[in-house]
This record gives sequence, C-alpha cells and structure tokens, in this order.
Amino acid sequence: MMHQSLLMWTGDVGENRMVTAQGLIISGNTAFANSGFRQKVQSVQVLEALLPEGIIIPTGFETVGHIAHLNLRDEHLPYKKLIAQVVLDKNKPKIQTVVNKTDAIQNDYRTMQLEVLAGNDSLRTMVIESGLRFQVDLGAVYWNSRLATERQRLINNIFRDSDVVCDMFSGVGPLAISAAKKVKYVYANDINPTAVEYLERNMVLNKLERKIEVFNMDARRFISSIYSSQHVHPVTQIVMNLPNDAAEFLGGYFQIPFRTSTFARVLRILEDRGILRNSQSGLRYVMPMIHVYGFSKAEDPEHDFNEYLRLKLQRINVALGENVDSVEMHRVRLVAPGKWMICASFTLPESVAIAQPNYISC
Ligand SMILES: C[S@@+](CC[C@H](N)C(=O)[O-])C[C@H]1O[C@@H](n2cnc3c(N)ncnc32)[C@H](O)[C@@H]1O
Repeated sequence: MMHQSLLMWTGDVGENRMVTAQGLIISGNTAFANSGFRQKVQSVQVLEALLPEGIIIPTGFETVGHIAHLNLRDEHLPYKKLIAQVVLDKNKPKIQTVVNKTDAIQNDYRTMQLEVLAGNDSLRTMVIESGLRFQVDLGAVYWNSRLATERQRLINNIFRDSDVVCDMFSGVGPLAISAAKKVKYVYANDINPTAVEYLERNMVLNKLERKIEVFNMDARRFISSIYSSQHVHPVTQIVMNLPNDAAEFLGGYFQIPFRTSTFARVLRILEDRGILRNSQSGLRYVMPMIHVYGFSKAEDPEHDFNEYLRLKLQRINVALGENVDSVEMHRVRLVAPGKWMICASFTLPESVAIAQPNYISC
C-alpha cells in the first residue's frame, strides 16, 4: 500500500498523476519537482514517495555495461518491477536493462541467477575496464567489476614485463587480457566453455590474441598440461581466483609439473649431459609466484587465511611457513559485513616443487 499521507490524487497535474506532500509529481514511474519548471529528481526520492512507509529504500546498484544489477532484499520483492522501472527511467540511456540476483552464486561457473525486471532482455553487454573492451554475457559467465582495482594491483605492482602469467580461472579474461598488454606471455584457462568463447573474442577485440594461449579444462589438468607440454615459456606468476575453492587446487601442481613434465625431463637430460649445471651448482628452475584468493570472516583475516592454507598444504606435505619464505597477505575488499576477500602471495620454493609427492590428491 502506498504511503497515503504522502500521496494524494490531484486534478490539476493531469490524469494518472499524483502529487506528494513534498511537492513531487509522480507520473507513471517518473517524478518531477513541482516547482515552476519540471526538474527531474533522484530515484531515491521517487522511491521514497512510491514505496510503503518503513521500507528501506534500495539506493545502490552495480553496473555491468548497459545492465544495472540490483540485489533486492525480500521486503522489496513485491515492488521489484516498480523499483527496477524507476532505476531504468532515472539512468537511461546508459542503463537499458535492470536485473535482480535471485539466488546466491552456487554453480561451478560462478554465474548469477538473474531475473530481468525492466528494459530489454539482453544480458550480453560490453564493459570497458582500464581502457580495454570486454564482451560479457552476464547470464552465462562470471563478471565482477569490483575486482578491477585488484587486477590493476597485480598488473601494476607485481607483474613485470618479463613475466609469464598463468591465469587458472580466467573467466572472460579481465586479468589475462589486461596482463597481456604488459607481460611477455599469458596462459589463460577456464572450465566454462562460454567464458572461453568470450575470452577468445575479447582477445581479438583488444588485439592481444598473439600473447595469450587459451585452455578450456579443469584447472588441475590445465596446470599439468602447461608444464608437461613443449611450452617454451616458463611460468613466473600463477593466479588462482576462485575464492571459495582455489586452495583446493594447490596440490594439483606443486610436484607433478616439475617432477614429471617434459620440461623437467629435458632440464634433467641437459643437466646429465653437462649442458646445464644442476641446481646444487647453480641452475635455478623458475619458481612461480602464486597468488591464491580466499574469504575470511575472522577478526584477523590474514592469520585465518594463512592457517587455512597451511592446513590445505599439509595435506600435500608442504608446510606453508616452513618451506615458503614469506606469504604476503593483501585485503582485496569487504564482500559482506565482516567478510574479507584476501589474496595470499608466495613464491613456490624449489625444494617443494621438485619434492617427491606424498599426498592425497585433492
Ligand atoms: C571467481 S571467477 C573468476 C573469473 C575471472 N578471474 C574474473 O575475475 O572475472 C572463477 C572462474 O573459475 C572458473 N572455474 C570454476 N571451477 C573451475 C575449475 N575446476 N577449473 C577451471 N576453471 C574453473 C569459473 O567458470 C569462473 O569463470
């Protein structure tokens, strides 16, 4: 029910129009200030006038290209179309579609369950990030503009021009493609075939296809195949952005790639023939830096995530802290009140990489 004390029908502003006690004229879902010239007012004011008293006014939304993405509370659901229409009307022409997330992200592809509430039905859009263009189908792939700062942190502060980056969970390529502008080479992988399709399109769109090789497989297989193939680029940075589960994938590459890969075998043959010196006498295998993401609700999220990683790594006989010189923790962002997304970065020690495996496979 509308807030009756705020709204009353009036004859002088025309049919199907209401005027509020604050002097707003509501026509359909558009509101104007009733002040000589008709000045458009903010959607918050419109919603304050239209929604029942006592309801928290939904104020913010995320944008992904032309799509406004709402995260409505249960109490808003009876008014979802009205809210969406106001958001659409007040943010045209930039916003053409308004959606609401209907369920928490639960599936392997990390896609959102979305309901189109207003505007056109297309969830295909174009996002511009750091001067690059990304085509995204929000119904079929993962995208989060809020990670843009974190991507730039890695690229600007950590990656060097000479780096070879391995993005194990690349999505449509916001990190992989952006990194490819700077680094020597990128290997990008995602298990979602649609994400990979968009990744390939986006590489071409940004003219970076020559610097990226794409894979569409489970991350464990991907990392093994990178190291066991004839690839000439030794990986120097590995990014694992699958915050709920990434640590589960750590066991997938610690020993396997270095111990059984063609690359390692070739190195060993070269060592045996005296073409290369062995590690004792100076040969350095290239040990990648690993950036693994996770969430923590603890008071000390860095300590909590460190402990979590330590437990995970103990399963593969690697004691983080004993074997890893230093783990750098970075708070990425608050994803919910009291819940941090954290990035742990550490260099994989040679002793760990070439150790005999003694673990239960994840
Ligand atoms: C949190 S998203 C990150 C995507 C991308 N890095 C970004 O920032 O947009 C995680 C991605 O991992 C992919 N994924 C989930 N499980 C996977 C697996 N086992 N192997 C490879 N990719 C996986 C999903 O399809 C999804 O695109």
